[in-house]
Amino acid sequence: MKFVPKLDMIVAEGLTKFYGKFLAVDHVSFKVDEGKIFGFLGPNGAGKTTTVRMLNTLIKISEGRGFINGFDVSKQMGQVRRSIGLVPQELTLDSQMTGKQVLKIQAKLYDVPDSVAKSKMDELLKLSGLSEFADREISTYSGGMQKRLELIMGLVHEPRVLFLDEPTIGLDAQSRYLMWEYIKKFGHDFQTTIFLTTHYLDEADELCDHIAIINGGKIRIEGSPQQLKERLGEDEVEIHFERKYESREIESILLSVSGVVAVSLEDNVCRVRTLSSERSLVGIITSLTNKGIEIKTVNPKKANLTQVFLKQMGVSDDESAEDDTDVLTSPTANVVD
Ligand SMILES: Nc1ncnc2c1ncn2[C@@H]1O[C@H](COP(=O)(O)OP(=O)(O)OP(=O)(O)O)[C@@H](O)[C@H]1O
Ligand SMILES: [Mg+2]
Repeated sequence: MKFVPKLDMIVAEGLTKFYGKFLAVDHVSFKVDEGKIFGFLGPNGAGKTTTVRMLNTLIKISEGRGFINGFDVSKQMGQVRRSIGLVPQELTLDSQMTGKQVLKIQAKLYDVPDSVAKSKMDELLKLSGLSEFADREISTYSGGMQKRLELIMGLVHEPRVLFLDEPTIGLDAQSRYLMWEYIKKFGHDFQTTIFLTTHYLDEADELCDHIAIINGGKIRIEGSPQQLKERLGEDEVEIHFERKYESREIESILLSVSGVVAVSLEDNVCRVRTLSSERSLVGIITSLTNKGIEIKTVNPKKANLTQVFLKQMGVSDDESAEDDTDVLTSPTANVVD
């Protein structure tokens, strides 16, 4: 059998962006293999959206080069735009329109023939659980449904590469999990290469094959989810017991719960570090109560792991970042400086 090498679908070589004199993205390099999900993790103002916009041809690259699907982002903009789908950070839907109407417009923008567009739209609506809402005004959709609609809008023209800029921001836990399922499904079913930005390590962990952490415009660390988890902080669950227990007893119970990585006990208060407080919580409570441990209160705390990590690194977190709202709506949208 002939060996067919997989293409690097996204390549950044020293990608750099100056806004005036301000260096927003500082010589960032990475490669994403075909069919993989790459997570770009970082706090507010880290440079995630700026990187997405450069690779999407929406803003000019100041220095360095980018390639999508083998096309040069600075020189082959038309081919790059036809290769990508973008789900932007901000919701951009016109709430007076129906789901079907916005999908039709998207298909037209990307020159998808009517015959193909209809069946593609039906397929995507079905896969995203939105079929029965397709003819309703978007103003009647929940936030999670709107995000799902934006996700399938990015897929109507069957892009080779999909950019998801904070796909779950503002969603409640249930909608977030649902969105994760759809992202995994679409990535898998359509063999789409996905570039995903997020604030949360658990999201990147759930979805991504490879993660890079960016702050202050620079990639600080990268690796597989497993490699990063071993180095980064985790969520914490604080448990107050009715009385004092032996450290050894509590540790042996809790360290066997899935996701728990460390346990410390001081007087009646136990702190449990876990990869995800949401996912470990039930296991923590049932394993303790099964052993007759009397719990007074349980307080799960979701860590912003990026910030934990950055603190460890002694890197400041720019919370004052603002975000502008240029979005890719058409393969012929303008490039701005
Ligand atoms: N058009 C612009 N003009 C000037 N500065 C900008 C512009 N867009 C972004 N910046 C700055 O560049 C830096 C990176 O912004 P960017 O939007 O890429 O961050 P981000 O990682 O996407 O953050 P968030 O998580 O808040 O979306 C920030 O300091 C931001 O204020
Ligand atoms: Mg952003």
